[in-house]
Amino acid sequence: MTAPHRGIIIIDFGSQYTQLIARRIREQHVFSEILPHDTALSAITKRNPLALILSGGPSSVYDQEAPDYDQEILRLDVPILGICYGLHLLSDYHGGQVEKGGTGEYGFANLNVLNPTALLEGINDGSQVWMSHQDRVIAPPSGWQVLAESSNGVIAAIGSVSQQRYAVQFHPEVIHTIDGTTIINNFLFKIAGCKPDWTPGNFIREQVEAIRKEVGDRKVICGVSGGVDSTVVAALLHQALGPAVTAVLIDHGLMRKNEARQCVSALKDGLGVNIHIINASESFLSRLQGITDPEHKRKIIGEQFIRAFEAATKKLGQADFLAQGTLYPDIIESGSAKQGPAAVIKSHHNVGGLPDEIDFTLIEPLKDLFKDEVRRVGSELGLPEALIGRHPFPGPGLAVRIIGEVTAERLDILRNADEIYMNILHEEGLYDEIWQAFSVLIPVKTVGVMGDSRTYENLLALRAVVSADGMTADWFRMPHDTLSRISNRIVNSVPGINRVVYDVTSKPPGTIEWE
Ligand code: XMP
Repeated sequence: MTAPHRGIIIIDFGSQYTQLIARRIREQHVFSEILPHDTALSAITKRNPLALILSGGPSSVYDQEAPDYDQEILRLDVPILGICYGLHLLSDYHGGQVEKGGTGEYGFANLNVLNPTALLEGINDGSQVWMSHQDRVIAPPSGWQVLAESSNGVIAAIGSVSQQRYAVQFHPEVIHTIDGTTIINNFLFKIAGCKPDWTPGNFIREQVEAIRKEVGDRKVICGVSGGVDSTVVAALLHQALGPAVTAVLIDHGLMRKNEARQCVSALKDGLGVNIHIINASESFLSRLQGITDPEHKRKIIGEQFIRAFEAATKKLGQADFLAQGTLYPDIIESGSAKQGPAAVIKSHHNVGGLPDEIDFTLIEPLKDLFKDEVRRVGSELGLPEALIGRHPFPGPGLAVRIIGEVTAERLDILRNADEIYMNILHEEGLYDEIWQAFSVLIPVKTVGVMGDSRTYENLLALRAVVSADGMTADWFRMPHDTLSRISNRIVNSVPGINRVVYDVTSKPPGTIEWE
């Protein structure tokens, strides 16, 4: 579906930093895509890349179980950069010598630059790099040059200018490699001849063209959740197809205060998108009655969502395509699913999911983007900053932020308290420093005193975390004065809450949400 955009292909040999390499390249406005190590040459040539990068990985090139790869890709007539394991692989393939085992290098080292050729142009002697390897190259392939050694005397960079092959032992993608960005830029712009043309404007133009070509004059339905991703999809499709797109927002009654209204207003009043809100809150709430188990809540919400969506699409008339806001990390994650069954901590991806069999062809125009790129595209499409900068919000909404049974009254209490919390974070300029902040209603009563009266009301927990991707997270060091303002304002103005606590648990061992 996506229009082909020439860029860099990263072949993934299992490094924990592979996604980071892609991000670093895209930060330079160059498109990059991660493909598994066993990708066939034909799949690569089809994409017509400007260069390849071979990632690091945990294996040794001489291991029996070293990852398979199609050797033909190393003969491609494009520049190739190997990083860590990629260095060993390139070196071994071209006849160099790799030594297995040894003490390795982990953490900081300094570069002794022997040859500041294209790759290391502008890199000063002594520049700090980040190492994480055991094996090492002890003799480069014949005709290749050693470009740098580490302060520990290990070969740190090699290359063959005539063959356009380069490789480094350290990790230029990691922030601790001080000149990492310069090295990546040298590879992208001086060696591979990339142009910084992966911009939101170009992305939108390419997508609009591709969507028009694929859809023609057929009809598209777009599910909107109130969150950033699906709102951006709706705006993008509207730009491409105008009234041929119908957006549908199923209001399950579990959203934050005014959330559905703000999203609809941005799309309908702001951009003229044809959007329908289906108010299904009563059916969701009645199905949730008496349910306290978090996974049971998720399951009910997931099923109800599918039902409501099916009913809505039937009413609106048959469409040929269904658009949704899948992002690049979702695609990468599902690719790694083949590594084996992971324990189900929370059944996220079943919520708001679609039935197994659907009558639509899927359109996923954001499937090549990271979250921050989606935000930039949203901004370029004219969506309000307040909407696109919003923290992530789970599919089951406030249902997993009310411990125990979800009722209309509890939802109101939580909405009112959460609104105050978010307003103060905005007022104090803290909102954008935090990855995700929210309140959790704990319907456990504690005693308080207000004026001369005793109170006996619910407990509210405030949660705020910093994170890169939600997989791990640390609790946000909230200034004490801010906590004090939030607590005072909530207890004084939200009936039903008389005590506020702040959650200081990181993930792991906690999760971000409480349920
Ligand atoms: P946890 O609580 O697992 O959350 O640390 C990680 C991220 O996922 C979000 N989350 C969900 N998103 N459906 C969703 O779409 C869910 O059921 C769900 N549960 C958690 C959570 O808000 C955080 O951003």
